Amino acid sequence: MAEVFHHEPVLAAEIVGMLVRRPGIYIDGTLGGGGHSCAMAEALERLGFIADSLIIGIDQDDAALRAASEKLSHWKEHTVLVKGNFGDIETIFRKVCSERDLRPEAAGILLDLGVSSYQIDSAPRGFSYLREGPLDMRMDRDAAVTAADIVNTRGEKELARIFFRYGEEQRSRSIAKAIVAYRERVGPIRGTGELAGIVRDLARGGENVIKMLSRIFQALRIEVNSELDVLRDALLQGIGCLGEHGRMAVISYHSLEDRIVKNLFAEHAKSDWGPKGVGLREPLVRASVSLVNRKPLLAGSEETERNPRARSAKLRIIEKNPKGGCREC
Ligand SMILES: C[S@@+](CC[C@H](N)C(=O)[O-])C[C@H]1O[C@@H](n2cnc3c(N)ncnc32)[C@H](O)[C@@H]1O
Repeated sequence: MAEVFHHEPVLAAEIVGMLVRRPGIYIDGTLGGGGHSCAMAEALERLGFIADSLIIGIDQDDAALRAASEKLSHWKEHTVLVKGNFGDIETIFRKVCSERDLRPEAAGILLDLGVSSYQIDSAPRGFSYLREGPLDMRMDRDAAVTAADIVNTRGEKELARIFFRYGEEQRSRSIAKAIVAYRERVGPIRGTGELAGIVRDLARGGENVIKMLSRIFQALRIEVNSELDVLRDALLQGIGCLGEHGRMAVISYHSLEDRIVKNLFAEHAKSDWGPKGVGLREPLVRASVSLVNRKPLLAGSEETERNPRARSAKLRIIEKNPKGGCREC
């Protein structure tokens, strides 16, 4: 039976309005089912830019690439879909540009972080405590390490660190201890339900079990896919790929991601004016980007009612400055 890929793109109108402003190369680093890419292609067509534009879609999940290729079939000539990690965004971008003899300067980049609704809702992928499935959680199914490997082989201290760092879970130590005790008593933990059961048994009366489960599953997912490790690097590479006035938009869904995006954007939006009191008229080093929005854009009530996933979304956008990062120019 054909897979049904369902995922409603978040803040799609805002992305299109703020990113698509001229013909050029657009990189969708988190292609998913192609919802945002499709909206961008429609806008490029409507504005008469499509003939001189290319969308490079990247995803590490084969199922996403299959779904997106179907969704974007109308714009086949103007899209290139690549299986890969956005941690390699610059290499992928430069390779596609050199194969097509294009100047490697992107007009827009989008990163819509995390997992898609399809991945979460697909029981065999093992992302959700609400669905019985193997403890897998790999976005890239060719990757070596699954959530089961982590839960069954890491020591108590290491598990506690993962739950605290990536789930901000206050009871990280007790949960890690319960997991290790269960492994010794019963054997390896194989399924999502089995892990959820251990967490549930530990929850005190009145404690919000659902929130606890969300935090533990989020922490494991982040660890399995090294999500935060590649993000900072991808943002830096992304800034390097942008042409003058090119924009990068990032949608994050939890505070750990948003903090990385916010801090890195702020760092690069600052010019270096040298030591205080020197009174230079021009900065020593110009800021490489400007913040398009100082505060993150959030979805409106109409969208969050229709698509609960949009509730936690935060959109931050930067624009590459001409001569950004330039010393004395
Ligand atoms: C929130 S979904 C994107 C949905 C997409 N914007 C749409 O409209 O259909 C995130 C997608 O990014 C992919 N992904 C997450 N981290 C990635 C990474 N480091 N490299 C490549 N793809 C990644 C996931 O596999 C997933 O398909």
